[in-house]
Amino acid sequence: MTSKLQEGILVGCGNPLLDISAPVPLKFLEDYGMNVDDAILAEERHMPIYRQLVEGYQAEYLAGGSVQNSLRIAQWILRQPNVAVFFGCVGQDDYADILREKARAAGVDAHYQVSPDTPTGTCAVLITGTHRSLCANLAAANKFTIDHLEQPANKALIDNAQYYYISGFFLTVNPPSIMRVAATANAKQRPFLMNLSAPFISQYFMEPLLAVMPYVDIIFGNEAEAHAFATAQGWPADLDLREIGKRLVALPKINSERPRIAILTQGCDPVLLIQHDKVQEFPVTRLAVHEIVDTNGAGDAFVGGFLAQYVQGKSLDVCIRCGNYAAGHIIKNPGCTYSGEPEFNE
Ligand code: AP5
Ligand code: NA
Repeated sequence: MTSKLQEGILVGCGNPLLDISAPVPLKFLEDYGMNVDDAILAEERHMPIYRQLVEGYQAEYLAGGSVQNSLRIAQWILRQPNVAVFFGCVGQDDYADILREKARAAGVDAHYQVSPDTPTGTCAVLITGTHRSLCANLAAANKFTIDHLEQPANKALIDNAQYYYISGFFLTVNPPSIMRVAATANAKQRPFLMNLSAPFISQYFMEPLLAVMPYVDIIFGNEAEAHAFATAQGWPADLDLREIGKRLVALPKINSERPRIAILTQGCDPVLLIQHDKVQEFPVTRLAVHEIVDTNGAGDAFVGGFLAQYVQGKSLDVCIRCGNYAAGHIIKNPGCTYSGEPEFNE
């Protein structure tokens, strides 16, 4: 990083979750009716998972929550604290203290709303070999309200930011808050970035997703999420990822002077950048099997690396290459964590 960035230039909203991660036998998933690559919200029948993981398996606690992951990675690359501000809701408990400490240590300026009667949200990360299945118990994260954004100090943070990033996951929590941030971004002609986050968002939360889409300047997603969006839209089943990307960027947009961009990742295959009807590919450096610890958080880290460059006004080319660098790095570390100093060269 060369010149100093404005503090709070980037604002993110999402679910602050503490990940409880452990290797489990397949039977564990079967018992809960889960698949190896799920990302789901916990229902009543999933509630025993968390205690079972802690008591019966080698569980690790890691700071999680998709947007917080991305902001922590962005901060790691930027090496200047408090560039990123985060809003989300936690409880009043030890887990919240862990999240607060992890955010602070990473340089993320977290302004949590606190729901005193609800435990902090957790995400079970069930590892079966190279697969991972996620089950999020949002708990306090689900208690986020727009009042928090209306507090004068928080409102000032939003007004002062230049870039905004919100996950699709947050659509299950508080669409009015998303619409508020999106409208502010639009009024100030500042970029609003969003993530498709998981197939279930398109399957079950299409209405609020489509409501915010006209404000979205950059939409991120992986293959499965893009296909889930296409299916939920009733687009032809044989559309490939490029065609889905072209249709995503062609959806109605309020600020038509800044056409939407879609950035779709596909694991170790090239990242697709879709602008107008043009598709560009950015290759991924394939990691050797022995280098991979787990791919958990790869998508979040990609966005984090992207954001670190984007807020510096770098070209999309540099942003995407930094996204791939960051994702590659966290794959060599447990969960969405990093080690050492960043080594990204434009
Ligand atoms: P998880 O879904 O694991 O994270 P993710 O960031 O989406 O990572 P994935 O591994 O699914 O990656 P991807 O498929 O998005 O990307 P792709 O493979 O294309 O979730 C982690 C977090 O989600 C947890 O911390 C949890 O707290 C949170 N969460 C769950 N539910 C939530 C909820 N309801 N609300 C909020 N948070 C929630 O890869 C992306 C990039 O990675 C590629 O472009 C490439 O650069 C790189 N890459 C991938 N594979 C390789 C490879 N083999 N070699 C080299 N590079 C690779
Ligand atoms: Na990892």
